[in-house]
Amino acid sequence: MTAPAPTHVPVMFDEVMEALRLSPGMVAVDGTLGLAGHAREIARRIAPGGKLIAFDWDDRMMAIARERLAEVEGCDVQYVHEDYRAIPEVLQKQAEPGADAIFIDMGLNNAQIEDAEYGISFLREGPLDMRMDKRRETTAADWLNHATAQEIEDVLFNEGGERWARRIAATIVERRKTKPLATTTDLVDCVMAAIPAAKRDPRIHPATRTFQGVRIFINDELEDLGECVTAIAQSLRPGGTMVVLAYHSGEDGAVKHAFHALARTDEFSEPHRKPARPSEAEVARNPKARSVRLRTLVRQPKSKKKAPEGAA
Ligand SMILES: C[S@@+](CC[C@H](N)C(=O)[O-])C[C@H]1O[C@@H](n2cnc3c(N)ncnc32)[C@H](O)[C@@H]1O
Repeated sequence: MTAPAPTHVPVMFDEVMEALRLSPGMVAVDGTLGLAGHAREIARRIAPGGKLIAFDWDDRMMAIARERLAEVEGCDVQYVHEDYRAIPEVLQKQAEPGADAIFIDMGLNNAQIEDAEYGISFLREGPLDMRMDKRRETTAADWLNHATAQEIEDVLFNEGGERWARRIAATIVERRKTKPLATTTDLVDCVMAAIPAAKRDPRIHPATRTFQGVRIFINDELEDLGECVTAIAQSLRPGGTMVVLAYHSGEDGAVKHAFHALARTDEFSEPHRKPARPSEAEVARNPKARSVRLRTLVRQPKSKKKAPEGAA
């Protein structure tokens, strides 16, 4: 029996397409290709004559996306197996003067969560890996077996928002003395042993915050995010649009501050200061969209300077 094809439902699909204002011949960047759910439609809309530069740090996703994009005609697709934070350098290397549209759909896709080999799901037994880019050296197990209790506590608290961080860190350090952590189940067991049953938040799995914190740390997901978003926005051509989907407050906070600061300059504007949210119908169909926030930034067309604030 063959394994079912990996799936991921693209989030806020119609809203993203509308915000990007795509048309034939444009240069577009998808910083987080995933399974090409958005990218396929972006490619269709910028064909004929369009160019799509597609980034993903996970070459396993990129291989599947390539097959899905092969069916789109009239669009030159370039694949870049890199962190999207490298968008400005990559555009420069390609002698591309800028993009008309840049889209970033942060975080994970469903295929990565459901594949136990990634080690990011507390619901699936697998190696305690968590690296999205296999070229990185340190797995979650390597780090958790060598970090100090204080380092682990800081990551669980700061990146995961876990208030039981100290007890979980102490349990990890104690248990690894007899048997190093190797699987996702080993980490779940540490969390379960550390958080008293009566104190667990009934709305989420007790290991949710620990897994999130370790994954964010192992992949440097928040490292310089605000500065990078600001630099990426500078890669827009005049009149170009950048759209970002963020799923947790760490990511969205960085995008919000970067976009607000840029919109205070003459060069950029935000069509909406508040983020757009998914419809109730979408959340009912796809609960994973529940926490998403969509933000849009537009680079002013060359001929247009923004009116000073407060001007009629
Ligand atoms: C939410 S999914 C994108 C889903 C895609 N829009 C779709 O509909 O199929 C995020 C993807 O971006 C990748 N990713 C996350 N952070 C990244 C980063 N900093 N640089 C490059 N790729 C990243 C992940 O590997 C994942 O495949």
